[in-house]
Amino acid sequence: QTEQQQAMLANMIEKAESFVQQQLEHDHSGHDWFHIDRVRKLALEIAAREGADLFICELAALLHDVADEKLNDSKQAGLDKVEQWLCLHVSDPHVVTHVKAIIATMSYNGGKNPPMETLEGQVVQDADRLDALGAIGIARTFMYAGSKGSIMHHPDKDFSQYEYRAAGKSAIYHFYEKLLKLKDLMNTAYAKEMAVIRHQWMEMYLEQFYKEWNVDDIKRK
Ligand code: ADP
Ligand code: NI
Repeated sequence: QTEQQQAMLANMIEKAESFVQQQLEHDHSGHDWFHIDRVRKLALEIAAREGADLFICELAALLHDVADEKLNDSKQAGLDKVEQWLCLHVSDPHVVTHVKAIIATMSYNGGKNPPMETLEGQVVQDADRLDALGAIGIARTFMYAGSKGSIMHHPDKDFSQYEYRAAGKSAIYHFYEKLLKLKDLMNTAYAKEMAVIRHQWMEMYLEQFYKEWNVDDIKRK
């Protein structure tokens, strides 16, 4: 790459940063700018280790939540927004197609989406999933549950109970529904290693949570 090309890529990254910051400014559902920035940093680190294209990974990481269904009228409307931005700012049609494809297929979707087709897609997906784990992942889960008015925990796992349903699924339920499954769904070797460590933090957290929930952690007189 010539210096001129590098400057052009750096300029596109800067433009993407401003666009994303402006798009997510008012979000309180766990898609704030700092989440995006962490995913970008994680993606760059994994990409370097895996020999993936750094520019594609960084751009896709920056844009990945702009298309989120929760922030748009529909999934398609979100994807259209990203496509519009890409077509306006990125001249290489291969980059546009690749980044668009990554963002369209990246979400968790109950683990039912087909596997990511490209190495860059795998890297960005791993980065996003890593930010759902560990201490940050725990914090994001309770923030999300709070923003939806969900309860923290219900000891009765009978979901048919009216009260439980009315409050939405609990934050603790989300660990079992998704978070604890992610470590086995990582694509790349380095992300797997990182996921194991963050997974352990969540297990330790849950163990202590249940002790305190049952007031079993205190010594009784
Ligand atoms: P992302 O693709 O950035 O991980 P999501 O929209 O899937 O974003 O979720 C944002 C955050 O909220 C994540 O940390 C996720 O684990 C958490 N989250 C998603 N759904 C729930 C839920 N039903 N209850 C609690 N937390 C949730
Ligand atoms: Ni995300």
